[in-house]
Amino acid sequence: MDTSNKSLSTKNVLITGCSSGIGLATAQHLAKTGFTVFATVRKEADAEKLRRLNEPNLIPICPLDLTHPEDIQPVINTIQAEIQRRGQPGLYALINNAGGGSVAPIELLDLNAFHSELQARLVGGVALVQACLPLLRQGAGRIIWVTTPAIIPTPYVTNIHACDFAVNCIARTLDIELGPWHIPSIQVRCGGIKTAKGLETISEVEAILKHPKADLYSHALKRWSKDMAEFDIKRTEPELVAKLIEKALCARNPKRQYSIGYMSGAASFLESLPQPLTDAILRMRF
Ligand SMILES: NC(=O)c1ccc[n+]([C@@H]2O[C@H](COP(=O)([O-])OP(=O)(O)OC[C@H]3O[C@@H](n4cnc5c(N)ncnc54)[C@H](OP(=O)(O)O)[C@@H]3O)[C@@H](O)[C@H]2O)c1
Repeated sequence: MDTSNKSLSTKNVLITGCSSGIGLATAQHLAKTGFTVFATVRKEADAEKLRRLNEPNLIPICPLDLTHPEDIQPVINTIQAEIQRRGQPGLYALINNAGGGSVAPIELLDLNAFHSELQARLVGGVALVQACLPLLRQGAGRIIWVTTPAIIPTPYVTNIHACDFAVNCIARTLDIELGPWHIPSIQVRCGGIKTAKGLETISEVEAILKHPKADLYSHALKRWSKDMAEFDIKRTEPELVAKLIEKALCARNPKRQYSIGYMSGAASFLESLPQPLTDAILRMRF
């Protein structure tokens, strides 16, 4: 692996959404490999869970709820103070991982939940980037976005993928805008990853089937749910995402997009086709 000369212990990384799944696996992996990890969570119980890991390089930061803009500056102040106390240079990476989302056809989307997801992943994500950039400039840092494997119109996951489409735009645009400071903006594009959230799809479909308008979609949703049961068995372990994120952090000249996870290759292929063809294939599939 191509690493720079700086010793890893001086490399501070901030990861959002570290209570579970990809965020937790990445926080643990990077702390074990020598990064200093500021791991944000929303709930004190999750911060306590991280403390109990007894990992000296892992520093829980709580609360950071990205739907609460007022949480951001205190988080930055805490990190800045800790970095100064250690006499270290800035922040080496911001890893935008936090996200929730749920599944539903657009007609049945819970608009409050949709609004929260847009707020967390887009407005909150950008606000966090803005707040971190002074520290990232000091640390000759980079920005990582954990996102979907492809920008394709997959039915029933618009709550999540509408954010991913916009994250794709933000990540690529930032990479150009921050070019003068050599701050890469990198997407780690994940297919099916075995996390608690990923495995909630089937129970979420059961919940939507109770929606007053569910009859319109019940046949298609039941068929999709069956497909998802098979998909879930083949999901990729989050620890492999953590290792790929380490690779993106350590590469001297990182790629701007890395892919990992079940079906990520097929999704990227679909994305590479002309849009009408991609849409026609998805129409047949659903
Ligand atoms: N799993 C997959 O197959 C997959 C595939 C592609 C992309 N992704 C993306 O990977 C990221 C991590 O997902 P995951 O599968 O690891 O799910 P997860 O285990 O549910 O982790 C999501 C994390 O995000 C946090 N979070 C949710 N809403 C937040 C908010 N408003 N503010 C701050 N933190 C918030 C959660 O905190 P709480 O515990 O407090 O809710 C949790 O720590 C997400 O952005 C997801 O879209 C996942």
